[in-house]
Amino acid sequence: MLKASNARAEHKLDQDPARSYTLPARFYTDPDIFQAEREAIFYRGWHMACHANDLAEIGSYVTATIFDQKVFICRGKDNVLRGFYNVCAHRAHELLAGSGKAKVITCPYHAWSYYLTGELRSARGAEDQPGFDSGEFCLTPVRIETYGHVVFFNLDDAAPAASETFEGLDAELDEHVPGFAGMQRSSTYNSVIEANWKVAVDNFLECYHCAPAHPAFADLVDLSTYRSECHAQHSSHIGSRVRPNNKAYVFDPMAAVQKSAFWWLWPMGTVNLVPGDPAVSLFWFNPISATRTELLAISYTPNGKMTPQLKAASTYAGTILSEEDNSLCESVQRGMASRGYRQGRFVVDAARSSNSEHAVHHFHQLVADALNWRKSDAIA
Ligand code: FES
Ligand SMILES: [Fe+2]
Repeated sequence: MLKASNARAEHKLDQDPARSYTLPARFYTDPDIFQAEREAIFYRGWHMACHANDLAEIGSYVTATIFDQKVFICRGKDNVLRGFYNVCAHRAHELLAGSGKAKVITCPYHAWSYYLTGELRSARGAEDQPGFDSGEFCLTPVRIETYGHVVFFNLDDAAPAASETFEGLDAELDEHVPGFAGMQRSSTYNSVIEANWKVAVDNFLECYHCAPAHPAFADLVDLSTYRSECHAQHSSHIGSRVRPNNKAYVFDPMAAVQKSAFWWLWPMGTVNLVPGDPAVSLFWFNPISATRTELLAISYTPNGKMTPQLKAASTYAGTILSEEDNSLCESVQRGMASRGYRQGRFVVDAARSSNSEHAVHHFHQLVADALNWRKSDAIA
């Protein structure tokens, strides 16, 4: 007899992906769980801001966001890279937008200004106020770290270093991405996905859906060579054989990149390399609410320019592939709210092939641990 699905008991995750259930649907819809993730995951993880070359020059800055927290990173006259919350110490206006270069940071609201060290430089008349101490009104620092040519930030001063968290990633990037160290920004891209951030990460972490849902990608990458490998807090997804003539975009059989390689970095960062001329896109899924996520992307090429082949690859990835993925994620999000769905299972294989969802299980374990859910019902 069929059981009423919403009467089923909820299963904890199993250490063995082959025996484990997925995270329950409520993890993707419940605003209370989203709030718990804010403190336990968003404010404790390492998040990508940009490639290190975006901040090579004195005075250069980039802004970045994790959920409701905005930060900026800049290179001071002393050549030191520093991160700060992007908020004025006067009455809380945002200081900087986008990216660029500045000698001093001037607030657009009442024109208080700050040195690139975060110290208050001038405060238009405030110096005459009784008891005003300019030392009290410096910018609030945010921890940053450059690792594997990527600049990261973390709101948690106690978190282990990015180099420890993602140990080995720097060597993997250098091994697989020709010239990554010297790449320059070529373009940026934003879009909104009507789904929980974990739906988007889940979807990134498996290629089990590639053959049925991405026919052109399945033609571009020989999925029989696709392997996903999990590390402590990142995973790599490499397709080592590709087809220059395929339904996604055509590339030179002699082009420098003859593979696909995708990396996921806990909790929501990704690094992406597709076959053809060298180019990397960094993108991350920034949570907006329990049911809405923003995809923020920055692409880099050897000289910051796009070849015609890179334009074709970018058109394919930015339209067909991302539309297919967005549509999958949005359908899954609707499904997570269905009274007919509670919890699924992972399909895994020993070869860790394109048909294996073990990297999604790895991610679910990290979420469950961060929320203290596997060992207790702390968030239930
Ligand atoms: S809020 Fe920045 S100067 Fe007033
Ligand atoms: Fe996909």
